[in-house]
Amino acid sequence: MKRSNIGKYRPFQPVRLPDRTWPDKQITKAPIWCSVDLRDGNQALPIPMNIEEKVEMFKMLVNIGFKEIEAGFPSASDTEFNFIRRLVNDNLIPDDVTIQVLVQAREPLIRKTFESLAGVKKAIVHLYNSTSPLQRKVTFRDASKDDIKNIATEAATLIQSLIPQSGDTDIRLQYSPESFSDTEIDFALEVCEAVMDVWQPTEDRPVILNLPATVEWNTPNTYADQIEWFCRNMKDRNKAIISLHTHNDRGTGIAATELGLLAGADRVEGTLFGSGERTGNLDIVVVALNMNSHGIDSGLDFSNLAEITQVFERTTRMKIADRQPYAGELVFTAFSGSHQDAIKKGMDIMKKADPDTYTWGVPYLTIDPPDIGRSYEAIIRINSQSGKGGVAFILDREFALDLPKSMHPEVGNFINNKADELGKELDIDEIKEYFDDEFVERNDELKLVQFFTVRDEQDPEVEHASIEVIYKGEPMIINGNGNGPLNALVHAMHLEGWKNFDLIDYRSHSVGLGSATESATYIQVIHKDSRKTYWGCGINTNIRRAGLLALISAYNRMNGYESKSELSSQKVEKSRKPM
Ligand code: KIV
Ligand code: ZN
Repeated sequence: MKRSNIGKYRPFQPVRLPDRTWPDKQITKAPIWCSVDLRDGNQALPIPMNIEEKVEMFKMLVNIGFKEIEAGFPSASDTEFNFIRRLVNDNLIPDDVTIQVLVQAREPLIRKTFESLAGVKKAIVHLYNSTSPLQRKVTFRDASKDDIKNIATEAATLIQSLIPQSGDTDIRLQYSPESFSDTEIDFALEVCEAVMDVWQPTEDRPVILNLPATVEWNTPNTYADQIEWFCRNMKDRNKAIISLHTHNDRGTGIAATELGLLAGADRVEGTLFGSGERTGNLDIVVVALNMNSHGIDSGLDFSNLAEITQVFERTTRMKIADRQPYAGELVFTAFSGSHQDAIKKGMDIMKKADPDTYTWGVPYLTIDPPDIGRSYEAIIRINSQSGKGGVAFILDREFALDLPKSMHPEVGNFINNKADELGKELDIDEIKEYFDDEFVERNDELKLVQFFTVRDEQDPEVEHASIEVIYKGEPMIINGNGNGPLNALVHAMHLEGWKNFDLIDYRSHSVGLGSATESATYIQVIHKDSRKTYWGCGINTNIRRAGLLALISAYNRMNGYESKSELSSQKVEKSRKPM
Protein backbone atom coordinates (compact mmCIF):
# COMPACT_ATOMS: atom_id res chain seq x y z
CA MET A 1 0.00 0.00 0.00
CA LYS A 2 1.26 3.49 -0.78
CA ARG A 3 2.33 5.29 2.39
CA SER A 4 0.18 8.25 1.45
CA ASN A 5 -2.91 6.01 1.60
CA ILE A 6 -2.26 4.55 5.04
CA GLY A 7 -3.57 7.64 6.79
CA LYS A 8 -7.15 6.85 5.79
CA TYR A 9 -7.30 3.80 8.08
CA ARG A 10 -7.86 3.71 11.83
CA PRO A 11 -7.25 1.04 14.46
CA PHE A 12 -10.31 -0.50 16.13
CA GLN A 13 -10.90 0.14 19.80
CA PRO A 14 -10.34 -3.04 21.81
CA VAL A 15 -12.65 -4.07 24.67
CA ARG A 16 -11.29 -3.14 28.09
CA LEU A 17 -10.76 -6.43 29.88
CA PRO A 18 -7.63 -6.16 32.03
CA ASP A 19 -8.52 -9.24 34.09
CA ARG A 20 -9.07 -11.49 31.08
CA THR A 21 -8.70 -15.19 31.90
CA TRP A 22 -8.63 -16.85 28.48
CA PRO A 23 -4.85 -16.64 27.92
CA ASP A 24 -4.28 -19.14 30.74
CA LYS A 25 -6.84 -21.65 29.47
CA GLN A 26 -6.48 -24.65 27.21
CA ILE A 27 -8.90 -26.29 24.81
CA THR A 28 -9.82 -29.59 26.43
CA LYS A 29 -13.06 -30.61 24.74
CA ALA A 30 -14.86 -30.27 21.45
CA PRO A 31 -17.49 -27.56 20.96
CA ILE A 32 -20.87 -28.12 19.33
CA TRP A 33 -20.10 -27.87 15.63
CA CYS A 34 -22.37 -26.34 13.03
CA SER A 35 -21.49 -26.53 9.36
CA VAL A 36 -22.53 -23.50 7.34
CA ASP A 37 -21.22 -24.92 4.05
CA LEU A 38 -24.63 -25.07 2.46
CA ARG A 39 -25.40 -21.45 3.33
CA ASP A 40 -22.42 -19.12 3.99
CA GLY A 41 -20.10 -21.34 1.97
CA ASN A 42 -22.55 -21.78 -0.86
CA GLN A 43 -23.62 -18.13 -1.13
CA ALA A 44 -20.00 -17.17 -1.86
CA LEU A 45 -19.42 -19.64 -4.69
CA PRO A 46 -19.07 -18.17 -8.17
CA ILE A 47 -21.37 -21.01 -9.27
CA PRO A 48 -23.50 -22.01 -6.28
CA MET A 49 -24.21 -25.71 -5.82
CA ASN A 50 -27.27 -27.09 -7.54
CA ILE A 51 -29.73 -29.23 -5.58
CA GLU A 52 -28.00 -32.52 -6.43
CA GLU A 53 -24.63 -31.12 -5.39
CA LYS A 54 -26.14 -29.79 -2.18
CA VAL A 55 -27.61 -33.20 -1.43
CA GLU A 56 -24.20 -34.79 -1.95
CA MET A 57 -22.56 -32.20 0.30
CA PHE A 58 -25.28 -32.64 2.94
CA LYS A 59 -24.77 -36.41 3.02
CA MET A 60 -21.03 -35.91 3.36
CA LEU A 61 -21.49 -33.44 6.24
CA VAL A 62 -23.72 -35.97 7.99
CA ASN A 63 -21.08 -38.68 7.50
CA ILE A 64 -18.39 -36.43 8.90
CA GLY A 65 -20.47 -36.22 12.05
CA PHE A 66 -22.09 -32.77 12.03
CA LYS A 67 -25.22 -32.76 14.17
CA GLU A 68 -26.16 -29.19 13.26
CA ILE A 69 -26.10 -28.16 9.62
CA GLU A 70 -27.19 -24.79 8.28
CA ALA A 71 -28.96 -26.09 5.23
CA GLY A 72 -29.68 -22.78 3.61
CA PHE A 73 -31.54 -19.52 3.40
CA PRO A 74 -34.95 -20.85 2.28
CA SER A 75 -36.52 -17.45 1.79
CA ALA A 76 -33.71 -16.27 -0.49
CA SER A 77 -34.49 -18.30 -3.62
CA ASP A 78 -36.50 -21.19 -4.99
CA THR A 79 -33.41 -23.39 -5.09
CA GLU A 80 -32.77 -22.75 -1.41
CA PHE A 81 -36.40 -23.43 -0.51
CA ASN A 82 -36.65 -26.51 -2.69
CA PHE A 83 -33.48 -27.94 -1.24
CA ILE A 84 -35.00 -27.97 2.25
CA ARG A 85 -38.10 -29.60 0.80
CA ARG A 86 -35.94 -32.20 -0.94
CA LEU A 87 -34.26 -33.07 2.36
CA VAL A 88 -37.68 -33.54 3.93
CA ASN A 89 -39.38 -35.34 1.07
CA ASP A 90 -36.51 -37.79 0.57
CA ASN A 91 -36.16 -38.32 4.29
CA LEU A 92 -32.51 -37.36 4.16
CA ILE A 93 -32.20 -35.81 7.62
CA PRO A 94 -31.15 -38.36 10.24
CA ASP A 95 -33.03 -38.17 13.54
CA ASP A 96 -30.00 -36.92 15.41
CA VAL A 97 -29.28 -34.10 12.96
CA THR A 98 -30.82 -30.64 13.29
CA ILE A 99 -31.03 -28.45 10.24
CA GLN A 100 -30.60 -24.74 10.66
CA VAL A 101 -32.20 -22.14 8.43
CA LEU A 102 -31.08 -18.54 8.20
CA VAL A 103 -33.48 -15.65 7.92
CA GLN A 104 -33.25 -11.88 7.90
CA ALA A 105 -35.37 -9.87 10.30
CA ARG A 106 -38.16 -9.29 7.78
CA GLU A 107 -41.71 -10.53 8.09
CA PRO A 108 -42.36 -12.19 4.68
CA LEU A 109 -38.99 -13.88 4.80
CA ILE A 110 -39.67 -15.25 8.26
CA ARG A 111 -43.05 -16.65 7.20
CA LYS A 112 -41.53 -18.28 4.11
CA THR A 113 -38.78 -19.79 6.27
CA PHE A 114 -41.32 -21.44 8.55
CA GLU A 115 -43.17 -22.78 5.48
CA SER A 116 -39.98 -24.45 4.30
CA LEU A 117 -39.74 -26.39 7.55
CA ALA A 118 -42.99 -28.34 7.29
CA GLY A 119 -42.24 -31.94 8.16
CA VAL A 120 -38.73 -31.29 9.52
CA LYS A 121 -38.22 -33.03 12.85
CA LYS A 122 -35.63 -30.72 14.41
CA ALA A 123 -34.76 -27.24 13.24
CA ILE A 124 -32.92 -24.14 14.37
CA VAL A 125 -34.39 -20.90 13.09
CA HIS A 126 -31.49 -18.49 12.81
CA LEU A 127 -32.43 -14.83 12.87
CA TYR A 128 -29.91 -12.09 12.15
CA ASN A 129 -29.64 -8.38 11.70
CA SER A 130 -26.63 -6.15 11.56
CA THR A 131 -25.72 -4.06 14.59
CA SER A 132 -22.37 -2.31 14.01
CA PRO A 133 -22.03 1.50 13.75
CA LEU A 134 -20.79 1.15 10.16
CA GLN A 135 -23.79 -0.96 9.14
CA ARG A 136 -26.20 1.30 11.03
CA LYS A 137 -24.81 4.31 9.25
CA VAL A 138 -24.28 2.94 5.74
CA THR A 139 -26.62 0.01 5.20
CA PHE A 140 -29.49 1.22 7.38
CA ARG A 141 -28.94 4.90 6.44
CA ASP A 142 -28.24 6.32 9.88
CA ALA A 143 -30.54 4.03 11.82
CA SER A 144 -30.41 4.56 15.57
CA LYS A 145 -29.47 1.91 18.07
CA ASP A 146 -33.13 1.68 19.09
CA ASP A 147 -34.17 1.14 15.46
CA ILE A 148 -31.75 -1.76 15.23
CA LYS A 149 -32.91 -3.25 18.51
CA ASN A 150 -36.53 -2.97 17.39
CA ILE A 151 -35.79 -4.75 14.13
CA ALA A 152 -34.40 -7.62 16.17
CA THR A 153 -37.15 -7.80 18.78
CA GLU A 154 -40.01 -7.43 16.29
CA ALA A 155 -38.62 -10.28 14.20
CA ALA A 156 -38.02 -12.31 17.36
CA THR A 157 -41.63 -11.74 18.40
CA LEU A 158 -42.97 -12.86 15.03
CA ILE A 159 -40.82 -15.99 15.16
CA GLN A 160 -42.04 -16.73 18.67
CA SER A 161 -45.63 -16.44 17.46
CA LEU A 162 -45.09 -18.85 14.56
CA ILE A 163 -43.62 -21.65 16.66
CA PRO A 164 -46.97 -23.01 17.91
CA GLN A 165 -48.12 -23.32 14.29
CA SER A 166 -45.17 -25.36 13.19
CA GLY A 167 -46.63 -28.79 13.84
CA ASP A 168 -44.32 -31.46 15.14
CA THR A 169 -41.15 -29.60 14.28
CA ASP A 170 -39.00 -29.13 17.34
CA ILE A 171 -37.77 -25.58 16.82
CA ARG A 172 -34.81 -24.06 18.62
CA LEU A 173 -33.83 -20.44 18.18
CA GLN A 174 -30.65 -18.66 17.26
CA TYR A 175 -29.89 -14.98 17.03
CA SER A 176 -26.83 -13.34 15.41
CA PRO A 177 -26.00 -9.68 15.87
CA GLU A 178 -24.32 -9.59 12.47
CA SER A 179 -21.03 -7.62 12.53
CA PHE A 180 -20.83 -8.32 16.27
CA SER A 181 -17.04 -7.92 16.41
CA ASP A 182 -17.20 -4.31 15.24
CA THR A 183 -20.31 -3.43 17.23
CA GLU A 184 -20.01 -1.55 20.54
CA ILE A 185 -19.87 -4.55 22.86
CA ASP A 186 -22.43 -3.23 25.36
CA PHE A 187 -24.87 -2.53 22.55
CA ALA A 188 -24.39 -6.01 21.08
CA LEU A 189 -25.19 -7.41 24.50
CA GLU A 190 -28.21 -5.13 24.87
CA VAL A 191 -29.71 -6.36 21.58
CA CYS A 192 -29.02 -10.02 22.40
CA GLU A 193 -30.63 -9.65 25.81
CA ALA A 194 -33.63 -7.91 24.27
CA VAL A 195 -34.07 -10.89 21.94
CA MET A 196 -33.70 -13.25 24.89
CA ASP A 197 -36.42 -11.32 26.73
CA VAL A 198 -38.75 -12.09 23.84
CA TRP A 199 -37.77 -15.72 23.44
CA GLN A 200 -37.58 -16.54 27.14
CA PRO A 201 -35.05 -19.33 26.92
CA THR A 202 -34.49 -21.72 29.80
CA GLU A 203 -31.54 -23.75 30.93
CA ASP A 204 -33.09 -26.81 29.25
CA ARG A 205 -33.96 -24.95 26.06
CA PRO A 206 -31.23 -22.37 25.72
CA VAL A 207 -31.08 -19.82 22.95
CA ILE A 208 -28.05 -19.86 20.64
CA LEU A 209 -26.33 -16.48 20.56
CA ASN A 210 -24.02 -16.52 17.57
CA LEU A 211 -21.43 -13.75 17.77
CA PRO A 212 -19.93 -13.25 14.32
CA ALA A 213 -16.74 -11.63 13.21
CA THR A 214 -18.64 -10.99 9.99
CA VAL A 215 -15.60 -9.14 8.76
CA GLU A 216 -12.34 -9.79 10.55
CA TRP A 217 -11.22 -6.26 11.39
CA ASN A 218 -8.94 -6.99 14.30
CA THR A 219 -6.44 -9.34 15.90
CA PRO A 220 -7.75 -12.65 17.30
CA ASN A 221 -6.98 -11.72 20.93
CA THR A 222 -9.47 -8.85 20.57
CA TYR A 223 -12.20 -11.25 19.49
CA ALA A 224 -11.36 -13.48 22.47
CA ASP A 225 -11.67 -10.47 24.80
CA GLN A 226 -15.06 -9.65 23.28
CA ILE A 227 -16.27 -13.22 23.82
CA GLU A 228 -15.03 -13.37 27.40
CA TRP A 229 -16.50 -9.93 28.15
CA PHE A 230 -19.85 -11.00 26.67
CA CYS A 231 -19.96 -14.30 28.60
CA ARG A 232 -19.09 -12.57 31.86
CA ASN A 233 -21.47 -9.65 31.49
CA MET A 234 -24.60 -11.23 30.09
CA LYS A 235 -27.46 -12.10 32.37
CA ASP A 236 -28.65 -15.72 32.31
CA ARG A 237 -25.43 -17.10 30.83
CA ASN A 238 -26.82 -20.56 31.62
CA LYS A 239 -29.73 -19.98 29.23
CA ALA A 240 -27.56 -19.34 26.18
CA ILE A 241 -25.20 -21.30 24.01
CA ILE A 242 -22.47 -18.93 22.90
CA SER A 243 -21.52 -19.60 19.32
CA LEU A 244 -18.54 -18.36 17.30
CA HIS A 245 -18.71 -17.48 13.62
CA THR A 246 -15.47 -16.08 12.30
CA HIS A 247 -14.41 -14.95 8.87
CA ASN A 248 -10.84 -14.74 7.70
CA ASP A 249 -10.19 -11.27 6.27
CA ARG A 250 -6.90 -10.87 8.15
CA GLY A 251 -6.01 -14.55 7.78
CA THR A 252 -6.59 -15.29 11.45
CA GLY A 253 -10.12 -16.72 11.47
CA ILE A 254 -8.89 -20.02 12.86
CA ALA A 255 -6.88 -18.35 15.61
CA ALA A 256 -9.87 -16.16 16.51
CA THR A 257 -12.09 -19.22 16.89
CA GLU A 258 -9.55 -21.10 18.96
CA LEU A 259 -9.05 -18.13 21.26
CA GLY A 260 -12.83 -17.62 21.36
CA LEU A 261 -13.17 -21.17 22.66
CA LEU A 262 -10.66 -20.39 25.38
CA ALA A 263 -12.76 -17.35 26.19
CA GLY A 264 -15.79 -19.49 26.99
CA ALA A 265 -17.73 -20.18 23.79
CA ASP A 266 -19.67 -23.45 23.46
CA ARG A 267 -20.26 -23.73 19.75
CA VAL A 268 -18.46 -23.13 16.48
CA GLU A 269 -19.84 -22.36 13.04
CA GLY A 270 -17.65 -22.79 9.99
CA THR A 271 -17.14 -24.53 6.71
CA LEU A 272 -14.99 -27.24 5.18
CA PHE A 273 -11.66 -25.77 4.10
CA GLY A 274 -12.84 -22.29 5.03
CA SER A 275 -15.14 -21.88 2.06
CA GLY A 276 -17.15 -18.66 2.30
CA GLU A 277 -17.48 -14.97 1.57
CA ARG A 278 -14.26 -13.14 0.54
CA THR A 279 -11.36 -14.84 2.34
CA GLY A 280 -13.78 -17.39 3.67
CA ASN A 281 -15.35 -18.59 6.88
CA LEU A 282 -13.59 -20.45 9.62
CA ASP A 283 -11.99 -23.68 8.35
CA ILE A 284 -13.61 -26.28 10.59
CA VAL A 285 -11.33 -29.04 9.30
CA VAL A 286 -8.32 -27.27 10.73
CA VAL A 287 -9.82 -26.53 14.13
CA ALA A 288 -11.06 -30.12 14.50
CA LEU A 289 -7.78 -31.67 13.39
CA ASN A 290 -5.81 -29.26 15.58
CA MET A 291 -7.81 -30.73 18.46
CA ASN A 292 -7.07 -34.28 17.33
CA SER A 293 -3.39 -33.43 17.15
CA HIS A 294 -3.55 -32.61 20.87
CA GLY A 295 -5.33 -35.87 21.66
CA ILE A 296 -8.83 -34.36 21.87
CA ASP A 297 -11.73 -36.17 20.23
CA SER A 298 -13.43 -33.53 18.08
CA GLY A 299 -16.49 -35.65 17.32
CA LEU A 300 -15.88 -35.05 13.60
CA ASP A 301 -14.34 -37.71 11.41
CA PHE A 302 -11.80 -36.52 8.86
CA SER A 303 -10.10 -39.90 8.52
CA ASN A 304 -10.82 -39.83 4.78
CA LEU A 305 -9.88 -36.21 4.19
CA ALA A 306 -8.53 -36.98 0.73
CA GLU A 307 -11.98 -38.17 -0.36
CA ILE A 308 -13.72 -35.25 1.36
CA THR A 309 -11.39 -32.92 -0.52
CA GLN A 310 -12.40 -34.47 -3.83
CA VAL A 311 -16.13 -34.20 -3.16
CA PHE A 312 -15.67 -30.63 -1.95
CA GLU A 313 -13.72 -29.61 -5.05
CA ARG A 314 -16.21 -31.26 -7.38
CA THR A 315 -19.37 -29.87 -5.78
CA THR A 316 -18.11 -26.33 -5.09
CA ARG A 317 -15.75 -26.00 -8.06
CA MET A 318 -13.25 -24.44 -5.64
CA LYS A 319 -9.59 -25.49 -5.50
CA ILE A 320 -7.79 -26.45 -2.34
CA ALA A 321 -4.38 -24.79 -2.21
CA ASP A 322 -1.26 -26.97 -2.07
CA ARG A 323 -0.36 -25.50 1.32
CA GLN A 324 -3.86 -25.61 2.88
CA PRO A 325 -3.33 -27.03 6.40
CA TYR A 326 -4.00 -30.78 6.54
CA ALA A 327 -5.70 -30.98 3.13
CA GLY A 328 -3.20 -29.44 0.72
CA GLU A 329 -1.20 -31.59 -1.66
CA LEU A 330 2.15 -30.54 -0.17
CA VAL A 331 1.46 -30.22 3.53
CA PHE A 332 3.02 -33.53 4.50
CA THR A 333 5.86 -33.28 2.03
CA ALA A 334 9.45 -32.49 2.86
CA PHE A 335 11.81 -31.48 0.09
CA SER A 336 14.60 -30.18 2.29
CA GLY A 337 17.35 -32.64 3.10
CA SER A 338 17.58 -31.91 6.82
CA HIS A 339 13.80 -32.22 7.20
CA GLN A 340 13.83 -35.50 5.28
CA ASP A 341 16.57 -36.93 7.45
CA ALA A 342 14.74 -36.01 10.63
CA ILE A 343 11.45 -37.42 9.32
CA LYS A 344 13.12 -40.68 8.33
CA LYS A 345 14.65 -41.04 11.79
CA GLY A 346 11.31 -40.29 13.43
CA MET A 347 9.44 -42.73 11.21
CA ASP A 348 11.99 -45.47 11.94
CA ILE A 349 11.35 -44.98 15.66
CA MET A 350 7.58 -45.00 15.14
CA LYS A 351 7.80 -48.24 13.12
CA LYS A 352 9.43 -50.00 16.03
CA ALA A 353 7.18 -48.48 18.72
CA ASP A 354 4.43 -50.44 20.49
CA PRO A 355 1.28 -49.61 18.47
CA ASP A 356 -0.89 -49.66 21.61
CA THR A 357 1.07 -47.26 23.76
CA TYR A 358 3.23 -44.99 21.65
CA THR A 359 2.73 -41.27 21.29
CA TRP A 360 3.35 -39.57 17.98
CA GLY A 361 6.66 -37.81 17.66
CA VAL A 362 8.02 -37.28 14.18
CA PRO A 363 9.83 -34.01 13.50
CA TYR A 364 8.00 -31.73 11.07
CA LEU A 365 4.80 -33.81 11.06
CA THR A 366 2.12 -32.69 13.53
CA ILE A 367 0.04 -35.78 12.79
CA ASP A 368 0.49 -39.20 11.21
CA PRO A 369 -0.73 -38.65 7.60
CA PRO A 370 -2.58 -42.00 7.27
CA ASP A 371 -4.81 -40.90 10.18
CA ILE A 372 -6.51 -38.57 7.72
CA GLY A 373 -6.32 -40.85 4.71
CA ARG A 374 -3.04 -39.51 3.35
CA SER A 375 -0.35 -41.96 2.30
CA TYR A 376 3.28 -41.82 3.29
CA GLU A 377 4.10 -41.65 -0.40
CA ALA A 378 4.01 -37.89 -0.51
CA ILE A 379 6.04 -37.30 2.63
CA ILE A 380 9.41 -37.26 1.01
CA ARG A 381 9.80 -35.91 -2.47
CA ILE A 382 13.02 -35.35 -4.26
CA ASN A 383 14.19 -32.17 -5.89
CA SER A 384 17.62 -30.58 -6.05
CA GLN A 385 17.28 -29.35 -2.42
CA SER A 386 16.64 -32.78 -1.01
CA GLY A 387 19.04 -34.67 1.18
CA LYS A 388 20.77 -37.99 1.23
CA GLY A 389 18.25 -39.45 3.69
CA GLY A 390 15.28 -38.67 1.45
CA VAL A 391 16.44 -40.79 -1.47
CA ALA A 392 17.38 -43.66 0.85
CA PHE A 393 13.96 -43.36 2.48
CA ILE A 394 12.19 -43.70 -0.86
CA LEU A 395 14.34 -46.63 -2.02
CA ASP A 396 13.60 -48.35 1.29
CA ARG A 397 9.88 -47.58 1.47
CA GLU A 398 9.07 -48.21 -2.17
CA PHE A 399 11.57 -50.90 -3.18
CA ALA A 400 12.65 -52.42 0.15
CA LEU A 401 16.27 -51.51 -0.52
CA ASP A 402 17.84 -50.80 2.86
CA LEU A 403 21.00 -48.97 1.80
CA PRO A 404 23.92 -48.91 4.25
CA LYS A 405 24.03 -45.57 6.06
CA SER A 406 27.43 -44.70 4.62
CA MET A 407 26.05 -45.22 1.11
CA HIS A 408 23.30 -42.59 1.59
CA PRO A 409 25.43 -39.51 0.76
CA GLU A 410 26.76 -41.00 -2.49
CA VAL A 411 23.29 -42.04 -3.69
CA GLY A 412 21.60 -38.88 -2.36
CA ASN A 413 24.08 -36.54 -4.03
CA PHE A 414 23.85 -38.41 -7.29
CA ILE A 415 20.05 -38.26 -7.40
CA ASN A 416 19.92 -34.61 -6.26
CA ASN A 417 22.37 -33.64 -8.97
CA LYS A 418 20.17 -35.45 -11.46
CA ALA A 419 17.16 -33.42 -10.29
CA ASP A 420 19.22 -30.24 -10.52
CA GLU A 421 20.44 -31.12 -14.01
CA LEU A 422 16.89 -31.86 -15.19
CA GLY A 423 15.52 -28.85 -13.30
CA LYS A 424 12.58 -30.80 -11.90
CA GLU A 425 11.26 -32.94 -9.10
CA LEU A 426 11.91 -36.67 -9.62
CA ASP A 427 9.12 -39.16 -9.10
CA ILE A 428 9.58 -42.53 -7.44
CA ASP A 429 10.08 -44.48 -10.65
CA GLU A 430 12.62 -42.01 -11.98
CA ILE A 431 14.59 -42.24 -8.73
CA LYS A 432 14.72 -46.04 -9.05
CA GLU A 433 15.65 -45.87 -12.71
CA TYR A 434 18.56 -43.47 -12.07
CA PHE A 435 19.67 -45.49 -9.03
CA ASP A 436 19.71 -48.70 -11.10
CA ASP A 437 21.57 -47.10 -14.00
CA GLU A 438 24.25 -45.67 -11.75
CA PHE A 439 24.69 -48.14 -8.89
CA VAL A 440 23.23 -51.47 -9.99
CA GLU A 441 23.62 -52.05 -13.68
CA ARG A 442 27.11 -50.74 -14.31
CA ASN A 443 28.63 -52.98 -16.97
CA ASP A 444 30.75 -50.46 -18.83
CA GLU A 445 34.23 -51.93 -18.32
CA LEU A 446 33.65 -55.33 -16.77
CA LYS A 447 30.51 -57.43 -17.17
CA LEU A 448 29.62 -60.68 -15.43
CA VAL A 449 28.29 -63.46 -17.69
CA GLN A 450 28.37 -66.47 -15.40
CA PHE A 451 30.46 -68.19 -12.78
CA PHE A 452 31.18 -71.72 -11.58
CA THR A 453 32.81 -72.77 -8.32
CA VAL A 454 34.21 -76.03 -7.03
CA ARG A 455 35.25 -76.70 -3.49
CA ASP A 456 38.91 -77.48 -2.85
CA GLU A 457 39.36 -81.21 -2.17
CA GLN A 458 41.84 -80.60 0.66
CA ASP A 459 40.43 -77.46 2.23
CA PRO A 460 36.62 -77.19 2.28
CA GLU A 461 36.92 -73.49 3.24
CA VAL A 462 38.31 -72.67 -0.19
CA GLU A 463 36.44 -72.42 -3.46
CA HIS A 464 37.97 -72.30 -6.93
CA ALA A 465 36.00 -70.03 -9.20
CA SER A 466 35.90 -69.82 -12.93
CA ILE A 467 34.22 -66.58 -13.94
CA GLU A 468 33.06 -65.77 -17.44
CA VAL A 469 33.20 -62.01 -18.04
CA ILE A 470 33.29 -59.47 -20.82
CA TYR A 471 36.17 -57.10 -20.26
CA LYS A 472 36.27 -53.96 -22.37
CA GLY A 473 34.10 -55.74 -24.94
CA GLU A 474 36.18 -58.96 -25.00
CA PRO A 475 34.72 -62.21 -23.61
CA MET A 476 37.16 -63.99 -21.29
CA ILE A 477 37.33 -66.42 -18.41
CA ILE A 478 39.16 -65.40 -15.25
CA ASN A 479 40.01 -67.72 -12.37
CA GLY A 480 40.58 -67.15 -8.68
CA ASN A 481 40.30 -68.74 -5.26
CA GLY A 482 38.71 -67.60 -2.04
CA ASN A 483 36.38 -68.54 0.79
CA GLY A 484 33.46 -67.78 -1.50
CA PRO A 485 32.80 -66.50 -5.00
CA LEU A 486 33.23 -62.87 -4.01
CA ASN A 487 36.70 -63.36 -2.62
CA ALA A 488 37.52 -65.54 -5.60
CA LEU A 489 36.46 -62.73 -7.96
CA VAL A 490 38.63 -60.19 -6.12
CA HIS A 491 41.51 -62.68 -6.38
CA ALA A 492 40.88 -63.34 -10.08
CA MET A 493 40.75 -59.59 -10.82
CA HIS A 494 44.00 -59.01 -8.99
CA LEU A 495 45.61 -61.87 -10.97
CA GLU A 496 44.50 -60.13 -14.18
CA GLY A 497 46.22 -56.96 -12.98
CA TRP A 498 42.94 -55.15 -12.22
CA LYS A 499 44.10 -54.42 -8.73
CA ASN A 500 43.76 -50.69 -8.26
CA PHE A 501 41.13 -51.23 -5.52
CA ASP A 502 40.44 -52.82 -2.14
CA LEU A 503 37.04 -54.03 -1.03
CA ILE A 504 36.24 -52.22 2.23
CA ASP A 505 32.57 -52.76 3.04
CA TYR A 506 29.96 -55.39 2.32
CA ARG A 507 26.26 -55.57 3.32
CA SER A 508 23.49 -57.82 2.15
CA HIS A 509 19.78 -58.29 2.85
CA SER A 510 16.86 -60.08 1.32
CA VAL A 511 14.25 -58.12 -0.61
CA GLY A 512 10.61 -59.18 -0.38
CA LEU A 513 9.06 -62.31 1.02
CA GLY A 514 8.33 -65.81 -0.25
CA SER A 515 9.67 -67.65 -3.25
CA ALA A 516 10.36 -64.51 -5.27
CA THR A 517 12.83 -63.25 -2.68
CA GLU A 518 15.86 -61.49 -4.10
CA SER A 519 19.07 -60.45 -2.39
CA ALA A 520 20.48 -56.98 -2.43
CA THR A 521 24.20 -56.68 -1.82
CA TYR A 522 26.08 -53.43 -1.38
CA ILE A 523 29.83 -53.28 -1.79
CA GLN A 524 32.18 -50.38 -1.25
CA VAL A 525 35.64 -50.26 -2.82
CA ILE A 526 38.47 -47.80 -2.33
CA HIS A 527 40.83 -46.65 -5.08
CA LYS A 528 44.37 -47.42 -3.99
CA ASP A 529 45.87 -44.14 -5.22
CA SER A 530 43.18 -41.53 -4.88
CA ARG A 531 41.77 -43.13 -1.68
CA LYS A 532 38.29 -42.28 -2.96
CA THR A 533 35.51 -44.74 -2.13
CA TYR A 534 32.72 -46.01 -4.39
CA TRP A 535 29.60 -48.04 -3.68
CA GLY A 536 27.96 -50.55 -6.00
CA CYS A 537 24.86 -52.68 -5.62
CA GLY A 538 23.83 -56.06 -6.97
CA ILE A 539 20.30 -57.42 -6.90
CA ASN A 540 19.66 -61.05 -7.78
CA THR A 541 17.68 -64.10 -6.68
CA ASN A 542 21.06 -65.78 -6.06
CA ILE A 543 22.81 -64.15 -3.12
CA ARG A 544 26.27 -65.22 -4.41
CA ARG A 545 25.63 -63.68 -7.81
CA ALA A 546 24.26 -60.49 -6.16
CA GLY A 547 27.64 -60.11 -4.42
CA LEU A 548 29.62 -60.41 -7.67
CA LEU A 549 27.32 -57.94 -9.42
CA ALA A 550 27.73 -55.45 -6.57
CA LEU A 551 31.53 -55.64 -6.74
CA ILE A 552 31.54 -55.25 -10.51
CA SER A 553 29.22 -52.22 -10.30
CA ALA A 554 31.43 -50.58 -7.66
CA TYR A 555 34.57 -51.35 -9.68
CA ASN A 556 33.10 -49.99 -12.91
CA ARG A 557 31.90 -46.83 -11.17
CA MET A 558 35.31 -46.34 -9.62
CA ASN A 559 37.15 -46.66 -12.91
CA GLY A 560 34.62 -44.47 -14.69
CA TYR A 561 35.02 -41.61 -12.19
CA GLU A 562 38.77 -42.03 -11.69
CA SER A 563 39.48 -41.89 -15.43
CA LYS A 564 37.37 -38.73 -15.70
CA SER A 565 39.28 -37.10 -12.85
CA GLU A 566 42.59 -38.18 -14.42
CA LEU A 567 41.52 -36.50 -17.62
CA SER A 568 40.59 -33.33 -15.83
CA SER A 569 43.87 -33.23 -13.87
CA GLN A 570 45.77 -33.71 -17.15
CA LYS A 571 43.85 -30.78 -18.57
CA VAL A 572 44.86 -28.66 -15.58
CA GLU A 573 48.49 -29.66 -16.01
CA LYS A 574 48.46 -28.87 -19.72
CA SER A 575 46.99 -25.45 -19.19
CA ARG A 576 49.65 -24.73 -16.56
CA LYS A 577 52.53 -25.25 -19.06
CA PRO A 578 54.40 -22.00 -19.65
CA MET A 579 53.60 -20.42 -22.99
O1 KIV B 1 -20.87 -13.62 8.86
C1 KIV B 1 -21.98 -13.40 9.36
O2 KIV B 1 -22.17 -12.49 10.14
C2 KIV B 1 -23.07 -14.28 8.97
C3 KIV B 1 -24.33 -14.10 9.73
C4 KIV B 1 -25.50 -14.21 8.86
C5 KIV B 1 -24.35 -15.05 10.86
O3 KIV B 1 -22.90 -15.13 8.14
ZN1 ZN C 1 -20.74 -15.49 7.86
